[in-house]
Amino acid sequence: MEKVEKGELINSGKAKSLYKSSDPDFYIMHYRDDTSAFDGVKKESLEGKGKTNNKFNAFIMLILEKEGVATHFQKLLSDTESLVKKLDMVPVECVIRNVAAGGICRRLGLEEGLDLDPPTFEFFYKNDELHDPMINDYHIKCFGWASDEQIEEMKIKTFQVNDTLKRLFSEAGMILVDFKLEFGSFKGELLLGDEFTPDGCRVWDSETREKLDKDRFRQDLGNVVESYQTIAKKLGIN
Ligand code: TMP
Repeated sequence: MEKVEKGELINSGKAKSLYKSSDPDFYIMHYRDDTSAFDGVKKESLEGKGKTNNKFNAFIMLILEKEGVATHFQKLLSDTESLVKKLDMVPVECVIRNVAAGGICRRLGLEEGLDLDPPTFEFFYKNDELHDPMINDYHIKCFGWASDEQIEEMKIKTFQVNDTLKRLFSEAGMILVDFKLEFGSFKGELLLGDEFTPDGCRVWDSETREKLDKDRFRQDLGNVVESYQTIAKKLGIN
């Protein structure tokens, strides 16, 4: 592939911006320092987060690719930018929980830290104004957001990601509590899109159960980017 040039801004999300590239099949994903929680209600710029997450995501996507989960990630372009395949996104979030925290505790009155074995799987409709409501397969089918086959594929791939990453984090002394994935199609193939970073998962230290992910920002625990870097260091990302 020739040197890619950055084109016009396509979409600016809460933490990342997407630009056209000189190749119509690829976009440039820019990881910003902006951090948001509670559907954009709490916002802050945290110096170094964009760079940390860009590198973190590249590391995880390459591992997943090796494990047979096809992703949109192509290559790192700069400290804060990655080249990705242009996906037609399915507007749903796929969440697996190994341990109860966050939404499921509020919804079902569970105590944080309860082991969920087997893990749970949930779909959410990606819509900030509606606060990402929980949905099921039938809503996805009814509104034409994905086919039966894609729904099954999203579930299978999300569990495959869980198996791989649960082991990876555990071997590095951490618990993968839960995470969120998004998928999209590229030339008829369903690929993992968006990102896998501490912004979209919960990770605790196995010994101390200290929270190392975006809950540090949500709950004002401090040292947000430093904790993301702690996770990266434990995983051997440099
Ligand atoms: P929840 O406990 O708030 O439902 O979140 C479950 C997981 O999904 C957690 O790791 C955070 C992640 N998540 C996102 O990345 N983006 C979102 O918009 C939401 C609601 C959750």
